Amino acid sequence: MAKSAPQKDAKTQETMTLKDNRNGKSYELPILEGTMGPDVVDIRKLYAEADVFTFDPSFTATGSCKSRITFIDGEKGQLLHRGYSIEELAEKSNFMEVCHALLYGDLPNEKEYEEFVHNITYHTMVHEQVNFFYRGFRRDAHPMAIMCGVVAALSAFYHDSLDIWDPEQREISAHRLIAKMPTLAAMTYKYSIGQPFMYPRNDLSFAENFLYMCFAVPAEPYKVNPVLADAMDKILILHADHEQNASTSTVRMAGSSQANPFACIAAGIACLWGPAHGGANQAVLEMLDEIGHKDNIPEFLERAKDKDDPFRLMGFGHRVYKNFDPRAAVLKKSCDAVLKDLGVKDDRLELAMELERIALEDPYFVERKLFPNVDFYSGIILKAMGFPVEMFTVLFAVSRTVGWISQWKEMIEEPSLRIGRPRQLYDGAAPRKYVPISKRK
Ligand code: CMC
Repeated sequence: MAKSAPQKDAKTQETMTLKDNRNGKSYELPILEGTMGPDVVDIRKLYAEADVFTFDPSFTATGSCKSRITFIDGEKGQLLHRGYSIEELAEKSNFMEVCHALLYGDLPNEKEYEEFVHNITYHTMVHEQVNFFYRGFRRDAHPMAIMCGVVAALSAFYHDSLDIWDPEQREISAHRLIAKMPTLAAMTYKYSIGQPFMYPRNDLSFAENFLYMCFAVPAEPYKVNPVLADAMDKILILHADHEQNASTSTVRMAGSSQANPFACIAAGIACLWGPAHGGANQAVLEMLDEIGHKDNIPEFLERAKDKDDPFRLMGFGHRVYKNFDPRAAVLKKSCDAVLKDLGVKDDRLELAMELERIALEDPYFVERKLFPNVDFYSGIILKAMGFPVEMFTVLFAVSRTVGWISQWKEMIEEPSLRIGRPRQLYDGAAPRKYVPISKRK
């Protein structure tokens, strides 16, 4: 049963004894408990007392921080933000409410909601000078390359919100980042297709405004399709935060050096770009194109199982979810609604559904608990909406910005903040003498 959130290190009475068989010494390691999830063994004093580090490359068994924002139970397929289930948030809430919950700890009441929406809405424009950054990029630059650059560059424009020790400045930076990301993302898209930038419209919702800035042109009126706006809002909710994933850990690590929030979020964007993380939604579409036809599925499944072949089924598997990805279940429904509304009969979707069916019956995938993740469906919806595949990861970044900045804010507000500095197991050369170049073999 859920307990109330622990305020300090919630030490249990329990300890774990670690025996060093090299010298017979024993060490008592405290066990900490959270509100939910497995207990953790506190090893912070281990090096000082026992002169050993722990070894956990890729952090599969390491809790890197305490957090109250998001909880995932990978076995149950459970994802909670501030205690609210992702399914309920996706069905009943909207992205602005979820942003408020992530950032401030709870869903807003009516007054808080109004105020928050106002704050975000009135930060959607970017400094006019930012436009010139775009012109320095090639038109065929990958949108994520542009996003890494322009988001980092925001720190050169908003000097008045860079003091990370001032709560008000932290808050303004958070609002600016959440509000300006869609504007920057839409500008990236417009730049790539040679169309004029569209200024944000404050009468539209967050999702509507984003679609407007991406797909409207100054020459004619644009009416936002409510089905697409609803699907976009769901995509934003479903990608908003995901606990200590690679990009969030990157943001926290960058922030632990006291770097400014714009620089930290740019670091997160760079990490998200990789195909094993946010780049997977683009990779799914590219993979479906590569497979080409249903008849080729068995051949590609064999390749995915072959350890000598680097091919993997993109959009399948997850480091944490080992039964199903709750975000994928919600998005599958949205995917159907969007395709129905747009009357899209997409061969790729049929191919994707067939691939899903065959893979889920295949013992290799069943035994390893590999099932479609959120990226498997988001790519298909975004394609149907008219986004080119290169933009998919940018959309992920637009949504994840609230998670990154909430996690960053939580970390900065932690009194025990220290720079992140993992250690290593060195297995390189032992000390040796410098050999002059003429004597080297
Ligand atoms: N296709 C084929 N085999 C796979 C796949 C896949 N997509 N994913 C994992 N495996 C196999 C892997 O070869 C290994 O087999 P074995 O035990 O025989 O060596 C086993 O399953 C466990 O895999 P792992 O590499 O240890 O798993 P991981 O937790 O390190 O990797 C992952 C997780 C998401 C990086 C990986 O499943 C993957 O590369 N999936 C495709 C990329 C993808 O869809 N990524 C999006 C993740 S969800 C969005 C996000 O959080 O960013």
